[in-house]
Parts: sequence; C-alpha cells; structure tokens
Amino acid sequence: MRILITGSTGLLAKGFEETSDGSHQLVGVHLRSYQVKDTRARHLTLDVRDAAAVDELFGRESFDAVIHAAGLAAVDHVEKHPEEGRRSNIEGTRNIARACRRCGAYMVYVSTNAVFDGAFAPYAEDASTNPIHEYGRIKLECERLTKDLAGPHAIVRPILMYGWNHSVNRPNPVTWLYEKLLRGEPVPLVGDVFENPLHSHQCGRALWKLLEKRPAGIFHLAGADRVSRWELGLKAARAFDLDASLLSRVDSSYFPSIAPRPKDTTFTTRRMEAELGMRPLTLEEGLREMKAEMGIGV
Ligand SMILES: NC(=O)c1ccc[n+]([C@@H]2O[C@H](COP(=O)([O-])OP(=O)(O)OC[C@H]3O[C@@H](n4cnc5c(N)ncnc54)[C@H](OP(=O)(O)O)[C@@H]3O)[C@@H](O)[C@H]2O)c1
Repeated sequence: MRILITGSTGLLAKGFEETSDGSHQLVGVHLRSYQVKDTRARHLTLDVRDAAAVDELFGRESFDAVIHAAGLAAVDHVEKHPEEGRRSNIEGTRNIARACRRCGAYMVYVSTNAVFDGAFAPYAEDASTNPIHEYGRIKLECERLTKDLAGPHAIVRPILMYGWNHSVNRPNPVTWLYEKLLRGEPVPLVGDVFENPLHSHQCGRALWKLLEKRPAGIFHLAGADRVSRWELGLKAARAFDLDASLLSRVDSSYFPSIAPRPKDTTFTTRRMEAELGMRPLTLEEGLREMKAEMGIGV
C-alpha cells in the first residue's frame, strides 16, 4: 500500500511509523519546515488548509489509504483562538476528505475523546456526543465532514496518548513527567480527571489493522487501565525508577485552564477488541515497552 499520514511529526504518526512491517510506502506531511530524524517515512511539508496544495499532492502521487491526524490540538489555545482552530482542523479535514473521495483512497479520520462531556463514562462508540469546549466541538464537526465528504472511511478516537515523541513534537504526560523527575522538580498532578491512556505503539498497531481490514464507522482506541494523571504519574515514576516523592496530588482547579475539561472520558473498547483483534495494553505493559525502547531493560 501507498499510505499518506498527515500530522507526521505527532506522537500518533510516530507510533504508526514505528509499528510498520516495512512492506508499505509511507509519506508523511507536517506543517513546519524541519528535518525529521529517525524516520521510516518520506516527510514533506504541506499545509492541509491549502486546498490547492493538497490537490497538487494528490495529483502528483497516488495513495491507497490516508490517515488524517493533522491539526491544531492545543485545547486552551483553540479555546482562545477558535477561528485558528477551526481553519486548521475543519478546512484541513474538508480538503483531505474531498481529495480521498476523488482518488478513491480509504480515509481514517483521527478524532478524540474530547467529543464527550465526561458525565457518562465509560463511553462506547455509539454513546451520545456532547463536547464542552471549542476543540471538542471542532473535532466533532470534522467527524461529520468526514462522513459527508470522504469515500470509504473510518473514524478513530484515540484517548490520552503516551510514548516517546519526536524531539520536535510536544511532550505527552509521560515524557513531560520523565523530564521533570529527572531534573528533580516537584510535580503536582491532577487526581480528579480520568482516562484510560493509550500507548502510541498500540495506537499505531490499531491503525495498521484498520488499513488491512478497512471497516467503516467509529473505533475507540484506549488502554486497559482507568487512571487519573496522578495515578499515571505514580506508575510512570515506579516504571522508570524515578523519585515518586516529588509527585503531589491536586484537583483540576489547581491549574486554571481556559477551557473546561471533561472529568471522565474513559472508553470501552469493544470494536478494538472484537474487530481489530486487539487486547488493550495495561499501563505497566505500555511503560515497559517505553523502557525497552530506551534499552534499559524491562
Ligand atoms: N496526543 C493525544 O493524546 C491525542 C488524544 C486524542 C486524540 N488525538 C488526536 O490525534 C491526532 C494527532 O495527535 P498528535 O498528538 O500525534 O499530534 P500533535 O502533537 O498535536 O501534532 C500535530 C501535527 O499536525 C501537524 N499540523 C498542524 N497543523 C497543520 C497544518 N495546517 N498542515 C499540516 N500539518 C499540520 C503538525 O505539524 P508541525 O509539527 O509541522 O507543526 C504535527 O505534525 C490529532 O488529531 C489529535 O486530535 C491525540
């Protein structure tokens, strides 16, 4: 297969690349102009908001499948700058979905757990959506655009992801914590918001299964353990032999955020298990995989 992944410097794309069996051609596009190191994909710079540039790429190259993960995802920034968030996500999704339909490529749109309000967990794929911040509303609109404009497609909703990110990419809860604890800094962690975190490699493997089977509809992708950031921090500190006494538990009100956060968006993973044949990893298993990648034993 020839596969295009947008948002190729993100954690999701890195997990996808790293779980490739090497038998497919992978093209990745991202926004800013820097060299991506240690990669199995051919990386190009492309602004998905630019319809002409998207059409030019699809005219020049052919793709059997497209994973659309690009877009502005910083929740508080999008709340403050909704127009910027809309342009990045909505225009990008419109351009990619139309191009996929024209060339007959199977499209996977990457959505989020933020389409839920957090009051009715655990959430199955057919649960009612009710986003409580601008980013969640925009991503839900992108899901609708994908359904309306793309040809054959699926929508995945990954939940909070962790794993080793590209150096040019933002850290995630585990790599952020790891750096802080290495420096010996005290770290307050929220104990009243819950998710079932997903290791980026498991996300990658699920995406490969989707491309192989090409099912339709929505898939929730998540790990096995429902935890708060505080519980995640304790487990990560233990896994990496770092000083857990630097961690303290706080409520979400401790961090004045601009956008309200849903309290519990834990997923059920019936389709991931039954149709993709995947058992959600426990946190211990995911953290062990990260440690193995560092070559420091498991
Ligand atoms: N990370 C999570 O925990 C999580 C959880 C749930 C859902 N998701 C979803 O998963 C997807 C990927 O997330 P991520 O964490 O891997 O990525 P990320 O760190 O948010 O990075 C965003 C990616 O999109 C690219 N991008 C942004 N605007 C673009 C544009 N206009 N044109 C082309 N590329 C653009 C960025 O390129 P540059 O690096 O060049 O700026 C980067 O590669 C997102 O759709 C997000 O909503 C993520």
